[in-house]
Amino acid sequence: MAQNIRSAEGVLRSVPEPGQVVLPKEGETNILITSALPYCNNVPHLGNIIGSTLSADVFSRRNRRTLYICGTDEYGTATETQALKEGITPRELCDKYHVLHKETYNWFDIGFDYFGRTSTPLHSEISQEIYTNLQKHGLLQRQEKEQTYCEDDQKFLADRFVEGTCPHCGSDDARGDQCDTCGRTLDAIELINPRCLLDKKHKVIHRVSAHMYIRLDEVQARTEEWIKKSWKKGGWSPNSVINADGELVDARLKGGLRPSPVTRDLKWGVPVPVSADDPDQEMSGKVLYVWFEACIGYPSITANLTSDWKQWWFNPKNVNLYQFMGKDNVYFHTIYFPSVQIGDGRDWTTLHHLSTTEYLNYEGGKFSKSHNRGVFGPAAKETGIPASVWRYYLLSTRPETADAMFSWADCVSANNNVLLNNFGNFVNRALKFISSQYNGVIPEGPDVPGPLSPNDELDADFVTDVNNLLKEYIDAMDAVKLRLGLQTVMLLSARGNLYLQASGLNKALIAENPARCAQVVTRAANLIYVLSALIYPFMPATAASILAQLNAPARAVPDVLAVDILAGHRIGEPAHLFKKIEEKMADLWRDKFAGNKPVEAAPAPDADATHVVPAMSKRKAAAAAKAAKKEVDDAPKSAEVLAWEQKIAEQGAVVRDLKSRTPKTSELEEEITAAVLELKKLKTELAALPK
Ligand code: MF3
Ligand code: ZN
Repeated sequence: MAQNIRSAEGVLRSVPEPGQVVLPKEGETNILITSALPYCNNVPHLGNIIGSTLSADVFSRRNRRTLYICGTDEYGTATETQALKEGITPRELCDKYHVLHKETYNWFDIGFDYFGRTSTPLHSEISQEIYTNLQKHGLLQRQEKEQTYCEDDQKFLADRFVEGTCPHCGSDDARGDQCDTCGRTLDAIELINPRCLLDKKHKVIHRVSAHMYIRLDEVQARTEEWIKKSWKKGGWSPNSVINADGELVDARLKGGLRPSPVTRDLKWGVPVPVSADDPDQEMSGKVLYVWFEACIGYPSITANLTSDWKQWWFNPKNVNLYQFMGKDNVYFHTIYFPSVQIGDGRDWTTLHHLSTTEYLNYEGGKFSKSHNRGVFGPAAKETGIPASVWRYYLLSTRPETADAMFSWADCVSANNNVLLNNFGNFVNRALKFISSQYNGVIPEGPDVPGPLSPNDELDADFVTDVNNLLKEYIDAMDAVKLRLGLQTVMLLSARGNLYLQASGLNKALIAENPARCAQVVTRAANLIYVLSALIYPFMPATAASILAQLNAPARAVPDVLAVDILAGHRIGEPAHLFKKIEEKMADLWRDKFAGNKPVEAAPAPDADATHVVPAMSKRKAAAAAKAAKKEVDDAPKSAEVLAWEQKIAEQGAVVRDLKSRTPKTSELEEEITAAVLELKKLKTELAALPK
């Protein structure tokens, strides 16, 4: 079918031919993306998903020549313990959870180039090679360590396999890594009367074991130099290692890095490389420490995808590496693994930019797998909420600067008030009009493709606003400020609504001023086309639906709004992008996913999460739903109204935060009163805005 479409520059992300893999090209921007490799002994919850895999997915869809790598982190004692619990082997356990992870990410439309795993022969080979290189460079050192040993099982017991009396508080059931009664972290060797978890009757003794340690102290100077250089070049956000002024703030760096063990007395892991003719067989039968080899998973998983993996991983000049992770992984990606790479001595591609997230909490508490509290992996689809809407809500709540709070009321509100009422409404109103009034064909309109007619102030303002927002979007996305990027998309559709409203788009306009009407629908159709590209990284299925409705090919993000959909183009069938979710569903889901234990308190929510509608009581929620419904019937929201609502949401978060603080001093009470007054003022002002 002939399409009257200009400058559709093709899809954003280069999609390789089947069986082919995207490789870096000299002189192009080549982006290698990783998200932290999830542990393979459980299913991910929504907080894990927004924390790394989903965020990295958005960024990968925004860039052209990219490779996005992830996979399961399979070795270590946590896996062994869980396998024991489930009565299967570690391998069986990992096979099972690897599939569950993969299915979950698939359902969320997370488009890895490859989702691999660390328990592969290539992973062992590459990890062992690095170990051997460190050894060659004199960066491994032998140390002896006293450990707990079970005489009956004839093996060393990892911290998690031992229980005993806490040396600090005397509690009888302290674990080898921590005492839950007094909260102190422990070394299993400190336990009084240690017991073997496999069988309490077993005899546990102390025994010396030799391990190899990596000389992080030897590498530290080079690591610090690397951090300072990379921080600048990659535009790192302030984090727990380096602050906004470029000062190293990590306590371990400040105190001086120490040699750190890279071997363990375990079975489930990468064997420590010891050649058979080596007279020293002391390390044979031991495995590499999981944190030593986990990060090597990124290159090894790439190697399992393509034999050309070195083009990505030994190519620092042409490749920029972006890594996504939760805040607890920062040390390992900025200090530990870079030190390993430096010590290895080859010309590695190293971290360019890191994007970290704080925690997502759940309904005033925490996600808890053991208490079944919150939404875990595959359960998200049981709600019937489409993946696109999940993505929107999670990304708009992305804990970028502080912990954020998942709430069902917010989730429903995001669907009904933002997606349906603002974004969906704009797209649908314009396309339905074209379909019903112009038979689905973009009308001939004077002046549209050329420069603006100088008197047309309304359109000049519209185009200026759109272009400013476009620039904000591009800047935000380049800086990996994904939440801001998404907010900007919603402001753009709000601006579109305002334009339709201000132009008085309706049947009467065609009769009174057909040329003007044609101009308005042409501009609207073209903004919708741009929106398809802007929303694509966040909601790929929604972008596809818009393109089908426009009957247009995927396009790149333009710098400015132009006229690319021309007169004579026939659009597709308009359809609603989103469905209303009944407000009462929030209560239903809150109950369904509440778990079986009283709520553990979580810290105050992210006051910066501007989209978050303050948590409401059921009654208030019902009233709000009614009001929201009335608004849907009445009119789309203006950009001003949306901006005001955001301010109110922000202020609501401030109020909630203050209210959650203790002790309630008179100063605090005063602050609360002032904040509540400010909130009321904002609400009054919103009510007074022209609708
Ligand atoms: N499995 C770790 C976690 O979930 C992350 C490992 S990231 C890696 O915290 F790079 F080390 F693999
Ligand atoms: Zn035992």
